[in-house]
Amino acid sequence: MGSESHPAGPDLAAGVAIETCADGKMLGGHVGEESVLLARRGDEFFALGATCTHYNGPLAEGVLVDDTVRCPWHHACFSLRTGEALHAPAFNPVACWSTEVRDGKVFVRKKIERAAKLRVAADKGAPEKIVIVGGGAAGFAAAEMLRRQHYSGSIVMLSDDDAGPVDRPNLSKDYLAGNAPEDWVPLRDGSFYSEQRIDLRLKVRVAGIDPRKREVTLADGGKVAYDRLLLATGAEPIRLPIPGMDLSHVHTLRTLADCRSIIARAATAKRAVVMGASFIGLEVAASLRTRGIETHVVAPEKRPMERVLGPQFGDFVRGLHEEHGVIFHLEDTATAIEARRVTLKSGGSIDADLVVAGVGVRPRLALAEGAGLKIDRGVSVNEYLETSASGVFAAGDIARWPDRHSGAAIRVEHWVVAERQGQIAALNMLGARQKFDAVPFFWSQHYDVPINYVGHAESWDEIAVQGDVAARDGVVRYKTKGRVLAIASIYRDVDSLMEEAALERATA
Ligand SMILES: Cc1cc2nc3c(=O)[nH]c(=O)nc-3n(C[C@H](O)[C@H](O)[C@H](O)COP(=O)(O)OP(=O)(O)OC[C@H]3O[C@@H](n4cnc5c(N)ncnc54)[C@H](O)[C@@H]3O)c2cc1C
Ligand code: FES
Repeated sequence: MGSESHPAGPDLAAGVAIETCADGKMLGGHVGEESVLLARRGDEFFALGATCTHYNGPLAEGVLVDDTVRCPWHHACFSLRTGEALHAPAFNPVACWSTEVRDGKVFVRKKIERAAKLRVAADKGAPEKIVIVGGGAAGFAAAEMLRRQHYSGSIVMLSDDDAGPVDRPNLSKDYLAGNAPEDWVPLRDGSFYSEQRIDLRLKVRVAGIDPRKREVTLADGGKVAYDRLLLATGAEPIRLPIPGMDLSHVHTLRTLADCRSIIARAATAKRAVVMGASFIGLEVAASLRTRGIETHVVAPEKRPMERVLGPQFGDFVRGLHEEHGVIFHLEDTATAIEARRVTLKSGGSIDADLVVAGVGVRPRLALAEGAGLKIDRGVSVNEYLETSASGVFAAGDIARWPDRHSGAAIRVEHWVVAERQGQIAALNMLGARQKFDAVPFFWSQHYDVPINYVGHAESWDEIAVQGDVAARDGVVRYKTKGRVLAIASIYRDVDSLMEEAALERATA
């Protein structure tokens, strides 16, 4: 067998000198055909699978924080001791190997089974029936965590979507661009739900919740009783109140069905107008360009993304899209859409046979409002993600929670936050009383360029730039009174992870 087929790095089974892996550092290598990560904490050595189970990120390029390794790409967090995926967006564990230190060398030995540490005594006083309203990021992560904690009661997951939980971020990126097959899109295949005894009911709309009777009413009049309820109804795209929004070539994007109809239209479309320079709007523009469609972006702001990311990133993102042929119509809006034309407020018009509106979303609050839950531009929850009604939790895009990092009650629309809230809500539905204190994180991808964002800054009094954003190698820190609230970065994954760890420590 030729050694050329081995993954990169030293053969860890043959041993490496202890000094090659300093305290707090990692070394990527291999054992046979498998990529393995050697990590050191004091005198302890850990050997783990080196590939993140989310999108195959290289864990050796991430950072160690206490007893965890963080993935450089989307900040998944794995236990060094058990390989468990402690925090989303990864769910599956990485493999673990035993290690041995001998004669100044550390050797990676046998693959071992290490059980994930249970964080709740799931069956002691556990609720019998848990109902989850929502089959998206938060709902899925909650159901998965309930079973991971060996919860043996009933889990009913109700979703008015016709698809099970999907990798929503992919719907504006690789899948829409035609670079990912559809089997990448479901978070799990159908057998997962039956094997895990998760009663996933699709195309079922919940019409009401009665917190006193502890039951939900379905649109068809059916009732489902619960002991604990998780509301994870997400958000829906805003539809502009302009003539023509209901035409068949005008789309919004939230669901797999929405994405499929844009793809179907894109097969024959020549020219597209994307309304809105939001993250989703611009990711859609990038995907349509990848499909070779002439793409115009119409948006009221002066610079795309400036409100969230400041002028440096605004200029960079605009330039990046222009390099790929996107034509911007900024400080302008669409006033009417016809079969082959979009009319602009400035007086001009653009011929278009495909229109996608990416002008923001609205949290789906009707159920929470109808049930009399406390609402504050979202469903108000405490640090345990409990709503004002006993036994009812909320997570994801609808939840406004007390964020200890910014000191404010915030609501965000981030994939990883929704999943991590789903995970914490699951633990708390089982009685764990664990605070949700994750630092918010999101990523966005435009062509081959990822932008990572850690923290939360609705405003700032200073922007500090390190490196060169325009050269695709930079970090921007958003500060108030000298304190870093958030950072955005391009190809500075370690800086992004270190800042996340610093924000965690600052409020620990
Ligand atoms: C195209 C796209 C790309 C994105 N890309 C990124 C990204 O790159 N990075 C990032 O951080 N975030 C991204 N996001 C945002 C991210 O997807 C959301 O923050 C996340 O999905 C929120 O999770 P959730 O569980 O709160 O809601 P959702 O995932 O929207 O799930 C809500 C669920 O509730 C169901 N539901 C709602 N009301 C009812 C009802 N009455 N009865 C029954 N079911 C109901 C819905 O059918 C759905 O199943 C993207 C979003 C979109 C649409
Ligand atoms: S690839 Fe590791 S978190 Fe996404």
